[in-house]
Amino acid sequence: MTKTIAFAGKGGTGKTTISALFIRYLVEECEGSILAIDADPATNLHMVLGMAGDRDLETVGAIREEMLGMVKTSGALAGSMPGGMSKQEYLDYQVQMAIEEGERVDLLVMGRPEGQGCYCAANQMLRVIVDRIGKQYDYVVIDNEAGMEHLSRRTTRDVDVLLLVTDPTQRGLITARRMAEMAPTLEIGVGHTYLIVNRVRGGLPPQLEEVIEESGLDLIGVTPEDPAMAEYEFSGRPLIELPADTPVYRSVAEIARKVLS
Ligand SMILES: Nc1ncnc2c1ncn2[C@@H]1O[C@H](COP(=O)(O)OP(=O)(O)OP(=O)(O)O)[C@@H](O)[C@H]1O
Ligand SMILES: [Mg+2]
Repeated sequence: MTKTIAFAGKGGTGKTTISALFIRYLVEECEGSILAIDADPATNLHMVLGMAGDRDLETVGAIREEMLGMVKTSGALAGSMPGGMSKQEYLDYQVQMAIEEGERVDLLVMGRPEGQGCYCAANQMLRVIVDRIGKQYDYVVIDNEAGMEHLSRRTTRDVDVLLLVTDPTQRGLITARRMAEMAPTLEIGVGHTYLIVNRVRGGLPPQLEEVIEESGLDLIGVTPEDPAMAEYEFSGRPLIELPADTPVYRSVAEIARKVLS
């Protein structure tokens, strides 16, 4: 059975960072195949994972647009696609080709979100394909863009664990709480929602502890502010190469153990 773990939260709180370190934990401590889904249109998960170098990655959004272009020029959605394939086969093939295969981790980049005037049949097909591809893996880790719309766009159908990432601020926590409240109203199944407070210096400030308590959010762990990170960011080194004894990685590993147990 596939275990799907999604990260969400306010902008810049550390979703991509923690997703990457979580994936590293899976690589080092778990057997089984891993699919990373970059669901942020700004697409930078591959950089922190050290995948694909400078190459532009094919995205599901670009495939969708290409297909819409073909529909406009030839009305192809009603008929057949290149090579006599059905449109479902064609999309399926394109998405399979878009998967960046790594040694232990495969990566699928969603790219641009569905725009206005999106062609819903194509989107529905793509969802089915992404869901089906996900099922071929033991673990699927989704790094989402900031905000909530991506969840309502339903990148994927069911999520076992939704990890809401916040920085140690009231605003970050309010966003996380809104997301936790909104999740059940969407047509996605979320097994369990947890909170991670990232970039904590020393302990959690008591005022924040109070807010977390009142919010009813289930705090699974805190991750420290890590000065080592900045140097990686300056030099563009993949965060996945952070030394194993780095406090932030140790904290993420602890969280991952809890999530997966
Ligand atoms: N624990 C930490 N210690 C130090 N720096 C951190 C920590 N976590 C994240 N950062 C830094 O904060 C910045 C934002 O992190 P990141 O890109 O992971 O956030 P994000 O939530 O994915 O942002 P976005 O909403 O733009 O996708 C990065 O420069 C990252 O290096
Ligand atoms: Mg990000």
